[in-house]
Amino acid sequence: MTNVPSVPTAAAAILPGGHAGNPTGPAATAIRLERIVKTYGSGEVAVHALRGIDLEIEAGQFVVVLGPSGSGKTTLMNVIGGIEPPTGGRISVAGRDITTLDDRALTAYRRAEVGFVFQFFNLVPTLTALENVALVAELVGDRGSESSLAALRAVGLDDRADHFPGALSGGEQQRVAIARALVKRPTILLCDEPTGSLDLETGRQVLSVLNRTSRAPGGTVVLVTHNSAIAGMADRVLRMGSGELLDDRLQPHPIAPEEVTW
Ligand SMILES: Nc1ncnc2c1ncn2[C@@H]1O[C@H](COP(=O)(O)OP(=O)(O)O)[C@@H](O)[C@H]1O
Ligand SMILES: [Mg+2]
Repeated sequence: MTNVPSVPTAAAAILPGGHAGNPTGPAATAIRLERIVKTYGSGEVAVHALRGIDLEIEAGQFVVVLGPSGSGKTTLMNVIGGIEPPTGGRISVAGRDITTLDDRALTAYRRAEVGFVFQFFNLVPTLTALENVALVAELVGDRGSESSLAALRAVGLDDRADHFPGALSGGEQQRVAIARALVKRPTILLCDEPTGSLDLETGRQVLSVLNRTSRAPGGTVVLVTHNSAIAGMADRVLRMGSGELLDDRLQPHPIAPEEVTW
């Protein structure tokens, strides 16, 4: 295990989510998976989406999980994020076992500790950028608009706060979606093909925001994608195939998001 250097950035100062990081000591484990199995269906039609995954992710790491379509990436995100229960095994996040939580506690976990970013931004079209973010802030009991505005500032969109999604580019909409995930100050940020529907230039802007997020204290980002070009900017690259982890590699010198190309 290597310690990921904690790079102080402007984002660290303004990003919501400022969990007390541990920049000097050994990194804490943010996510731990033990023998995680996920099987859809049973018998002859059973689909083995995850076949016994063991994985430990340090707090503050930017992890990219690569794999072809159907390799189990989305399933992995969904079980870590508490959207789907694993068929077997144990998952703990920030030291807490989430596989034994009841429905209510699991909802609270999903709501408070997990930020999700998906390929499709799913913004509410009749709400402004700020209102889209504030809606989620309210869910976690934050009623003022200040933290929502700060989250938009962190993704470089505070000047678009009053715009409706339809008036924003795809990349800008995805950054609003990231602000919406960050306003909760999540323990972990899970991104499923976040640049899947973006061109290179807007994709880079989104990656740059995710990169800054992971460099802020305690910012743990897991990004799954079939686009291997994105792997260059990760602290760690995992490769999946047929529901298994095939490769696990640390990158001491990740490239800048601006250098990513596809
Ligand atoms: N809800 C589901 N019901 C049945 N099979 C599913 C379901 N979700 C995913 N699968 C199957 O599980 C495997 C892994 O899918 P997925 O995790 O979506 O892969 P990826 O995100 O890497 O494309 C695939 O074979 C897929 O068809
Ligand atoms: Mg997928």
